[in-house]
Amino acid sequence: TYTICEPCIDVKDKACIEECPVDCIYEGDRMLYIHPDECVDCGACEPACPVEAIFYEDDVPDEWKEFTPWNAEYFEDG
Ligand code: SF4
Ligand code: F3S
Repeated sequence: TYTICEPCIDVKDKACIEECPVDCIYEGDRMLYIHPDECVDCGACEPACPVEAIFYEDDVPDEWKEFTPWNAEYFEDG
């Protein structure tokens, strides 16, 4: 799956939403999140983000690794 990281916070450009063929990018309070079970790994969103907030999970920079579980947790019931 793909992960949205720190650069999205308080930016929320939303260019990524336009590119996603399965509409699996959802708006949260301060950033957007990718639903890990709905993302089909097409990669279309990654180059669309003007602040380079989106990475394939294996390519997430070390300082933002927690964003992968945070994206998933956003969709958990609770
Ligand atoms: Fe949507 Fe593709 Fe990005 Fe996954 S990789 S969030 S399916 S645009
Ligand atoms: Fe955020 Fe970039 Fe999408 S800033 S809303 S991940 S285009």
